[in-house]
Amino acid sequence: MSDLGQRLKQMQARFEDALAAAQDPKSVDAVRVAFLGRNGEVTKVRRAIGSLAANERPSAGRVINEAVARMEASLDATLRKREGKAFEAALEQSIDVTFPAQHPNVGSLHPIRRVMDDIASYFERHGFAIVLGPEAEPDYYNFDALNIPPDHPAREGFDSFYLSDDMLLRPHTSPMQIRTLEAFAPPVAVIVPGKCYRRDAVDARHSFMFHQVEGLLVGEAIHFGHLKGMLIGMCRELFGVDTDVRFRPSYFPFTEPSAEVDARCPVCQGSGGTCRMCGGAGWIELGGSGMVHPNVLRNLKYDPDVYSGWAFGFGLERIALRRYDIDDIRRFFENDPQFLEQLA
Ligand code: DAH
Repeated sequence: MSDLGQRLKQMQARFEDALAAAQDPKSVDAVRVAFLGRNGEVTKVRRAIGSLAANERPSAGRVINEAVARMEASLDATLRKREGKAFEAALEQSIDVTFPAQHPNVGSLHPIRRVMDDIASYFERHGFAIVLGPEAEPDYYNFDALNIPPDHPAREGFDSFYLSDDMLLRPHTSPMQIRTLEAFAPPVAVIVPGKCYRRDAVDARHSFMFHQVEGLLVGEAIHFGHLKGMLIGMCRELFGVDTDVRFRPSYFPFTEPSAEVDARCPVCQGSGGTCRMCGGAGWIELGGSGMVHPNVLRNLKYDPDVYSGWAFGFGLERIALRRYDIDDIRRFFENDPQFLEQLA
């Protein structure tokens, strides 16, 4: 009996070794046949029972059956382990088209750009062309041609980043009024979005770089009513159909008469108070506007008795600050994805 036990133990050890060495399903099956198959080792051991005394046979049979059960269990486990590995390998190579895709970081339009696009699309629909101009401009386009002579006090706020004696980063988009009228005879209708630069100390409301959109319409018999009509339409599109627009008398050397343009705050409807949207003012300041000064037309050799026109220049940051309820202009330029994602 102990002989038999010994034999079974050794057999099982060999079986386990063989199983461990069998890496593919075919060799695992070969091990099964060699040990548990019809002519396998177990069968040979079973045959040996015949030579035992009759009373020893039942317990010998039981011991063999137990050994077979253990071997079958470990064969099973090995097969499952091998299958698992094969499955993983197959999975690695396969593509699951139903698997949820990783979201690519696609980004979004910058809030300034979105305000710009909205304004541009309004004017484009009304027949205006969008033109872009250089950010470095000579004195002539920045000032002289816009009726701001060298000694004029209005230069003060505009005199900023000079690149040479008479070349500077443009402090407004108005130089493009001149370039447009140089290149095209009236009737002309353009808007000019773009970057501007000023020597402003940086704080929550000021930046040395910001964006404006300039508008210019010159033709025959153009009057202030045309300007009001277009700007009221623009404000209604930007802030809602009921938006009131206010024109406050102002002064710019290149327009006469001149006006500051405000849109009624769409949140507090002008009641102000602690309104965050308009900062309590009740109105959102857009920028300057007016009828093109006759001197500007004369500078470009157009007869002011024949031609007239209007122009405006609005700050895009101001509009975007209000529209998106942002407390600090610097956020627009810090390129912080966490900030920009909130507005996307
Ligand atoms: N260029 C002026 C500025 O930056 C804004 C402006 C005022 C533009 C009146 C205009 C205008 O076209 O007509 O302050």
